This record gives sequence, C-alpha cells and structure tokens, in this order.
Amino acid sequence: MQNKGYDLDFLDKLKSANDIVSVISQYATLQKKGKLYWACCPFHYEKTASFAVNEMEQYYHCFGCGESGDVIKFIQKIEALDFMGAVKLLADRAGLEVPKFQGDENLSKLNDQKKRLYNACNLAMQHYQQNLPSSSIAQEYLKKRQLDDEMVKLFCIGYSAGWTQLIDFLKKNKVSEYDMQAAGLVDKKTSGYYDVMAERLMFPIINSYGDCIGFTARALDDAKFAKYRNTTQTLIFDKSRTVYNINNVKKAKQSHGIDNIIICEGAMDVIAMVKAGFDNTVACMGTAITPMHAKEIKRFAGQVIMCLDGDFAGQKATFRALDILGGEGLDVRVVTLPENLDPDEFLKKYGAEKLREYIENAVVATDFKLKILANKYNLKNNYEVSKYLKEALEIIKQLPTSAEQEIYLKLVRDLTGISIDSLKRDLGYEVKSQSIVNEDKTLEVREEAVLRATKFVLASMLHKKDYADIPIDKMYFKNSNYQKLYNFIINKRQNGQDYKVSDIFTIFDIDEDKDIADIVDYNFENITNLEKYFVESLDKIRRIGLEYRQEELKEMFKKETDINKRREIAVELTIVTKELKK
Ligand code: CTP
Ligand code: MN
Repeated sequence: MQNKGYDLDFLDKLKSANDIVSVISQYATLQKKGKLYWACCPFHYEKTASFAVNEMEQYYHCFGCGESGDVIKFIQKIEALDFMGAVKLLADRAGLEVPKFQGDENLSKLNDQKKRLYNACNLAMQHYQQNLPSSSIAQEYLKKRQLDDEMVKLFCIGYSAGWTQLIDFLKKNKVSEYDMQAAGLVDKKTSGYYDVMAERLMFPIINSYGDCIGFTARALDDAKFAKYRNTTQTLIFDKSRTVYNINNVKKAKQSHGIDNIIICEGAMDVIAMVKAGFDNTVACMGTAITPMHAKEIKRFAGQVIMCLDGDFAGQKATFRALDILGGEGLDVRVVTLPENLDPDEFLKKYGAEKLREYIENAVVATDFKLKILANKYNLKNNYEVSKYLKEALEIIKQLPTSAEQEIYLKLVRDLTGISIDSLKRDLGYEVKSQSIVNEDKTLEVREEAVLRATKFVLASMLHKKDYADIPIDKMYFKNSNYQKLYNFIINKRQNGQDYKVSDIFTIFDIDEDKDIADIVDYNFENITNLEKYFVESLDKIRRIGLEYRQEELKEMFKKETDINKRREIAVELTIVTKELKK
C-alpha cells in the first residue's frame, strides 16, 4: 500500500526514526507530566501550556487551538513545507534515503492542479493590487467607503481595471487559459476569454495558510447588476466552507490571543470592524452558515458572536445558523444592531466604543431567540400568547439539560404569566406530538445520534480503550472516511498488529477530513458510563450500517450486468438481510 506518493512502510520507518518528542523539543520546551509531554503551543499564542505530545502514540494535540498531527504534519506546519518537503527534511535528519516519489498518479495530479490554481489566484491578487493606485475611480470609491491604506494593505484589496488586462498579466506569468478558467478568474465568450470581475473592487479570499483561493468583488456603481460577485466553486474554493478573513484572525490569535470570533455578513463589514479594532471578525461569503464553516471557526475559538443587523435577526435562516454553530459545540452569542444598520454603517454612525458596548452585552442564542419571538407576538392577546408558547417551547425543548430548560421556562413565565408547572406539562406534550408531526426533524435527530455514536465508537477503538477491546462484527459506514478508518483498525486487530494514533495522519489529511480530526481529538470526559455507551453505540451503528449496506447492495444489484458479480452481490445481500433480522 502506498500513500501520498510514498510507500507506507517507508513512512513508518521515517516516523520511527524521528521520535516525535525529540523532534518537537527542537522547537518547544517540553515538560513531562504523567504520560504526556507539555509545552506552550508553537502554533498559537498562549501563556499556559496546552500543547501535549503523546510519546506512546507518537502524535501531538493542542487543547487550545485544536491542532493535532504526527511528526510529519508538525514539520509541515512549523517549517511551512508541503508533505514532500517535510518528508525530505525528516529523512535527512535521520540519515534515511527518500525513495523515488511514486505518487498515486491521480492524487499527485490533483495536487499539482491545486498548486497551479493557488498560483493563478495569488498572481491575480497581485495584479489587482497593482492596478489600485492608478485607478482614480477606485481611489474615489475607497475614499467614499473610508478604506485607508492600512486596510487596503491588510486585506490585499485591488481593482480589476478591465476585461482582458488580467489575462495578459497571467499569460506573461505562464498561467494557461485553462487554469485561469479552472480558478474561476475568467470565462469564455465567442470573442475569447474575459475577466469575470472586470471593473470591480477586488477583495481576495485568503485561506488560513495564506493562499488566495478566490475573490469577492464589489461593483463601484450601486446601480450595476449584482452588487457583489463571488468566485464560483473551484477545486480550491468552496464557499460553503470558506470563512473570509480567517488568515488575519489566525495571525491575531498567534500574536495576542483572541477570546472569540465575531461573525458578520460581508467583507465590507469585516474590514470596518477590523479598522475599529475588532481584529477577530470574519464573514461567511454571502451564503448561509454551514457545519463546515462552524468547524473552520472552531479551530480558532470556542465562542462566536453573531453580529446581525435588525433586518436579519428575525429570519428563519438566522435561527438555523445559530443552531448550526451551537451544534458544532460553539458557545454562540448574538448582537442585534439597531435601526437595521450593518456593522459598517453602525461604526460610521456611532463609533467603536458604542459597538463594544453592544458586543459586551451580547446575549446567548436561546435568550435571543425567545426575545425575537416575543417581539413577533402581542403577548397581551391570549390567542397570540398561545402561538408564542408553541414556538418558544419548541426552542426550549432543544436545550440539552433540564436545568437549562428551567432557566428559560422562567423567562417565558415572566413574559406570559403562565405557571412553570403548566409550561412543563406543555413541554412534555410538545415533545411527543412533535416526533409524529415532524418526520424530517426526527430523521435529522436520528442521524445526529448515529453520528455521535459512530465518532465515539471509532475514537474508542482508535485510542485503544479497554472496553473497546471486544470482538466486533463487520460494520458499514455511509461516510467513506469512517469506513477507511474502521477497516484500517480492524485489519490491524485481525492480524494481531499494533497501531498508533499517529498512523492516522499517514492515511488521512486531517486538515481536509475534519470528521477524522474529531475522532483523533475526541473528548471522552463528558461520558459517564463509557462501557455501556460503547455497547449501545455499537449496536445502533451496526444496525444503521446494515440497513445502509442493504440499500447499497440492492442498487448495485440493479445496475450490475456481469452474472458472477451479480451472484456475489446476491450472496452478500442475503447475509446482510439475515443479520438485520437478528
Ligand atoms: N451579497 C452577494 N451578492 C449580492 C449582494 C450581497 O453576494 N448581490 C453578499 C455579500 O457577501 C454581502 C452580503 O451578501 O456582503 C450582505 O449584503 P448587503 O448587506 O447588501 O451588502 P453589504 O455587506 O452591506 O455591502 P455594502 O456595504 O458594500 O453595500
Ligand atoms: Mn454595508
């Protein structure tokens, strides 16, 4: 088997020859406490040590910033090298010869293409920046929006002067038209290629490693069609996981630490916030917040503050966004700005100090939701009260503990005058009726429960917990990463071979596969009866997995034309169906 272009045996040898503790001691002062070595994290600013190195499992994990990896990943990060570069450095260090890069052809082609697209975007950013000083209309616009030189520089703001200048510049720098288009920079008409962002102010979107991956571009003229244009989806740009300004937030975190991350809606708001001193601000690019956004944010802070203009506060999408952020374990607070002002407008009208007051008074998500709802109804009218109650109890029901539910029931009591006892009764009733009425919701809840169980089971197996050392039937997972991880562990177990957590980093790219990162960094502390939960979880995911496999086999059977393969599928289908009947 080979991986990332190298033989797995070679990577094993390389890792054994470079003990993680001795490598990391060259970069950080490690202190042994119990089974772990501790240091202040070399990847983010901190005063007390939360960076742990596990010698036995040969991996590191920072409890502050969530970074984890094996010795190769450590070198990649700290020396800013790619995988091959880190392998070379470690091989030199250990006096090993690096075998010829064999590369999984497809994988290395994909990586090459990604590199070419990063290069194209980085060059385009440079070109747009060069255009800015000499364009009088762009300069005028900057002045109008009060974007000073410091902000222009920090955000690498530029200007697309016309339809073809970018293309000429990129050609001179040996970027092919094919790559320009693949990077979403240009498009093609019968007359030829053209810059899709022509005559717009350009805001590069830069990932946490400092590469430009796309742009959000504003028309200088409000009357123009589409005030903002964003780069389309490409191999390197996916707006459903991209967070604007995460590059600067990462730096802020490293240089002086941040307490939380402020989320607002657009690039202009972020820039105004940073200018006013809130350098921990990000935006999701003109899209609804997804769990992937939440995971990206969570790498840098545990608390988020959603900064909303009054316009948006009451919308369903906003409630949904809060649930998504909360669902990823973030502590979510909300600020609602008055007069439907966005942060940029608010700052211009009232200044930074006033905004700071608002932020300091941010309310927790549940408070916010109940308050918004209360504004929606006239609580002096009995009919409206009953409508309010229905929605409010719906929100309270989602809280994880009865203690929390009680706090908010009191709030509802104060607003409506309905006694806690009857509210509690209604809460119980609501729970029951909802599971019948709202099929979708229960499906979602069930999937989340399965996901939780899956992560727990795989984490227990990976971290070799005693209670996980029991015979386990073949299992199926919808998520191919989970399947891969499970297969890896089971194979090792069946062959009586040992495995380490650090092996995972050879098989997966943890930065890309966040679901695997969750398993490596799994926090077992919140679970009371591990053994019982393990057995229950196993049973739950085994069943769901079998159902999923049954569906998959039926589909395969329908499509398969080869008679022998059909027979194989039929045999497995019978086994799976029998298993399910147990
Ligand atoms: N947006 C977009 N396309 C549009 C309008 C808006 O993608 N045609 C996205 C942008 O990311 C924008 C966000 O939605 O930042 C919020 O829109 P809006 O409030 O209208 O824009 P502002 O951020 O206030 O931008 P500006 O101050 O430049 O008008
Ligand atoms: Mn605005």
